[in-house]
Amino acid sequence: ADNSQLALTPPMGFNTWNTFQTNINEQMLKEMVDTYVSSGMRDAGYRYFVLDDGWMTMDRDANGDLVADPKKFPHGMKAFADYVHSKGLKFGIYNCAGDRTCAGYPGTRGHEYQDAHLYASWDVDYLKYDWCNTDSLNAREAYITMSKALKATGRPIVFSLCEWGNHQPWLWGKGVGQLWRSTGDICNQFDKDKNIGAWTALSVMTILDKQDKIRQYAGPGHWNDPDMLEVGNGMSVSEDRAHFSLWCMLAAPLMAGNDLRKMSPQTHEILTNKEAIAVDQDSLGIQGFRFYAFDGLEMWVKPLSKQDVAICFLNRSTHPQNIDYTWEAHVLQDAVSHLNINFTEGEYKVRDLWAKKDLGTTKKAFKQTIASHDVVMLRLHKGN
Ligand code: DGJ
Repeated sequence: ADNSQLALTPPMGFNTWNTFQTNINEQMLKEMVDTYVSSGMRDAGYRYFVLDDGWMTMDRDANGDLVADPKKFPHGMKAFADYVHSKGLKFGIYNCAGDRTCAGYPGTRGHEYQDAHLYASWDVDYLKYDWCNTDSLNAREAYITMSKALKATGRPIVFSLCEWGNHQPWLWGKGVGQLWRSTGDICNQFDKDKNIGAWTALSVMTILDKQDKIRQYAGPGHWNDPDMLEVGNGMSVSEDRAHFSLWCMLAAPLMAGNDLRKMSPQTHEILTNKEAIAVDQDSLGIQGFRFYAFDGLEMWVKPLSKQDVAICFLNRSTHPQNIDYTWEAHVLQDAVSHLNINFTEGEYKVRDLWAKKDLGTTKKAFKQTIASHDVVMLRLHKGN
């Protein structure tokens, strides 16, 4: 299959890991699928429903095939995939390039074509491919092998590279897969990393700070993946809003990781904000960048199609900050000149994407107070 057209905008979906780890089963997953649809997530653009680690039995069967754990999936994986598809969603699954997955289940090493064939027989649409227990494996070669195996099935399958940015996947991932993790695992903290014994889970801000230098490697069909969303998983509402906004500014894959059945109205509002999502999904596929940072206040810029621009002011500090920003066309032009986009002279209409309000035009200075750990996200619109 020619998979180059598979993810022309960043993939959107749900993944089980951030909330459930390996504690998954068919019944609760079906409830999640149902809520995915009834909550409006599907209509907001989310498409994939991805099972992470923990769906298998501890051993392959007599034929060397992977087996869905019959205790967790009494009707088997094909039946579950069918259920996901029957709701108008696409189905994703997980494995690992090594001998075992990170949670100890059978890895794919040495079974690449066999596993790809099995996934295709289940009508899998998306594979996340992890990097535990890989000893002497060469990352680039291992991911290329699996990529070829997936293509050989003839079924279009999005390939999500998950080697945590250890081997600069942005330099070789394009054409191998459609997205590659750029860092280690995220956690549900805004700016403090979490020590988890042998390793450190990264805060939202730590991950954000690692994206700027690789932004030029992202584009339609090949995305930097700053890891899945922690929206609704314990941060404050403003932190969740900031996290989501910045992931949209980064043109990041948007994989919800919360228990959809228990979403608060605020979590729901954040995850389904169509105007924020439109920034993420813009057809140019340009990863936004930090335009300035001063004293805990940052301004992020993302050029959009039709000469629109998304702007995100981020307050990382622990106190409220005032913004009084005079728009100057040449400033924005400078910011994007290296991208070969021409912002012609003149004024833009300014729209606040969280307040869902028009704020006039760029003729007027932008004045607002931003709470600690919060954002203001704007869309500047050039046309009428
Ligand atoms: C490490 C990955 O980075 C996580 O996203 C998750 O897939 C776990 N492995 C599963 O074991």
